[in-house]
Amino acid sequence: MLQPDLERHVAVIWLSALGPARIVAALFILLSFLALCVGTIRREARRRRAQRQAAHSLLPADGNAAPLLVVHASQTGTAEQLAWQTAQTLQLAGVPAQVATLAQLTRAALERAERALFIVSTYGEGDPPDAAAPFVRSAMLQADTSPRLGALHFGLLALGDSSYAQFCGFGRTLDHWLRRQGARPLFERIDADKVAETAIECWRQQLAHLAGTRDAPDWAGPAFTRWTLTARRHLNPGSAGEPVCHLELKPAGTAPLPQWQAGDLLQLQIPGDPQPREYSIASIPADGSVHLLVRQARRADGSPGLASGWLLTTAGIGEPLDARIREHRGFRLGDNTRRALILIGNGTGLAGLRALLKAREAQPQAVDTDRRCWLIFGERSAQHDALYRDELLRWQRSGLLTHCDQVYSRDQPERRYVQHRLAECGDEIRAWLNAGAAIYVCGSLDGMAPQVDSVLEGLIGRPQLDALTVAGRYRRDVY
Ligand SMILES: Cc1cc2nc3c(=O)[nH]c(=O)nc-3n(C[C@H](O)[C@H](O)[C@H](O)COP(=O)(O)OP(=O)(O)OC[C@H]3O[C@@H](n4cnc5c(N)ncnc54)[C@H](O)[C@@H]3O)c2cc1C
Ligand SMILES: Cc1cc2nc3c(=O)[nH]c(=O)nc-3n(C[C@H](O)[C@H](O)[C@H](O)COP(=O)(O)O)c2cc1C
Repeated sequence: MLQPDLERHVAVIWLSALGPARIVAALFILLSFLALCVGTIRREARRRRAQRQAAHSLLPADGNAAPLLVVHASQTGTAEQLAWQTAQTLQLAGVPAQVATLAQLTRAALERAERALFIVSTYGEGDPPDAAAPFVRSAMLQADTSPRLGALHFGLLALGDSSYAQFCGFGRTLDHWLRRQGARPLFERIDADKVAETAIECWRQQLAHLAGTRDAPDWAGPAFTRWTLTARRHLNPGSAGEPVCHLELKPAGTAPLPQWQAGDLLQLQIPGDPQPREYSIASIPADGSVHLLVRQARRADGSPGLASGWLLTTAGIGEPLDARIREHRGFRLGDNTRRALILIGNGTGLAGLRALLKAREAQPQAVDTDRRCWLIFGERSAQHDALYRDELLRWQRSGLLTHCDQVYSRDQPERRYVQHRLAECGDEIRAWLNAGAAIYVCGSLDGMAPQVDSVLEGLIGRPQLDALTVAGRYRRDVY
């Protein structure tokens, strides 16, 4: 009983020490703060409602109106974002549009469609993005090639990068396939080199023409803003490989930290080079800054890569650079928030996996969530390359990481990689997948990712792996 009296007593002394003017000022500040909170919550609710309405309005108004299909095949989200902008532009001009991923599209649905716009990117060496691979196998590589798409008129925007030998390779393959199937182009394929503005403008003009409007909304993505490098830590001194650093970046000055989700990327422009580079974000907003895990890239002549060289050695702490967050929906937790996670990666691939682990750690406990996380991570040697060693240890102790396999390729006479560990655990991986687990792969496209993919195919079969891709339970951020 004494405790509340004591508290009241202390409060009275404290208030009388403040004096009436200060009490009024304090109340004013408190009320202003509450008003700010309520305003922010209302604004956020309005934004979400508007987003929901916008998404809903992209569906046809009634079941009879045939919507124009806007189909995307994207690895890191650019084609997906352009698809939504395309659909919104059409919708605003009164043309009902429906957005779908190529993964969701069946050949039968395409045979019924009268108009479709495709926005597709290219990966590997002229390959389709992951999510498109099941469609390629189930529809495009089918033996039956008799023309079936005679009713279809299509437009195609191919995204690519002309520094690859197979520039817009998948876009070109899809274009040829559609034509062979009897589909007719609404206009010639548009190839966009590094999302060139001229190509996107050309696509927008075709859309305006299709929709009979000149009033297309602005598509400018979020602008690059000024950021500052606030910390850098060398994580692999003594390594036989190139240096890897943990970097921290914050918006410059008093600018607030933008929001992002685990899985997203940071696109950055170093001073003097307009070509942006992308890095997997290794942190969540609650960390207070964007963390990156960057390895020094080397060119064939031994000179350091431009962006990694600048970030790891040239830039001083406090140095400004331009950056922006890029949503990477394909690698977010998304519908997998309640599933067990199998996280596989090597080298700097730990960045994206670390963000996912942090997101899982921050996720409130819920009875319907399978919170198990299994990390299979590969590097060269335990002595020099155990990136984020203490953190992984802490997560093992706290129970966040229920399973943690670190595979060091050079710590034994024979080379050993994550795919070998995966193959050894076949029964357990199958059991996790049967219990609903999702797989995330982050890191090198050269070697690791294709090997992991083929071990997974061996464990569960290609049709089931394709089904996991289509269901969003097999996601990759590989480069
Ligand atoms: C989705 C995604 C996520 C990524 N995440 C990460 C990450 O988390 N961590 C990370 O370290 N990296 C990541 N990367 C890679 C990163 O974006 C950069 O590609 C990498 O840092 C190399 O950039 P750089 O400017 O240092 O090298 P660059 O100067 O661009 O050179 C890169 C390579 O291109 C070739 N090259 C380019 N120009 C020349 C030239 N003039 N002469 C000879 N060779 C040339 C060389 O092979 C060289 O090794 C990611 C990439 C993608 C697409
Ligand atoms: C690992 C990797 C491989 C790529 N391979 C090709 C290629 O073979 N041909 C090409 O034109 N573009 C290639 N690209 C470039 C992408 O197609 C391009 O960046 C595109 O805008 C990505 O769109 P998305 O975000 O929708 O996936 C590659 C990009 C990466 C990161």
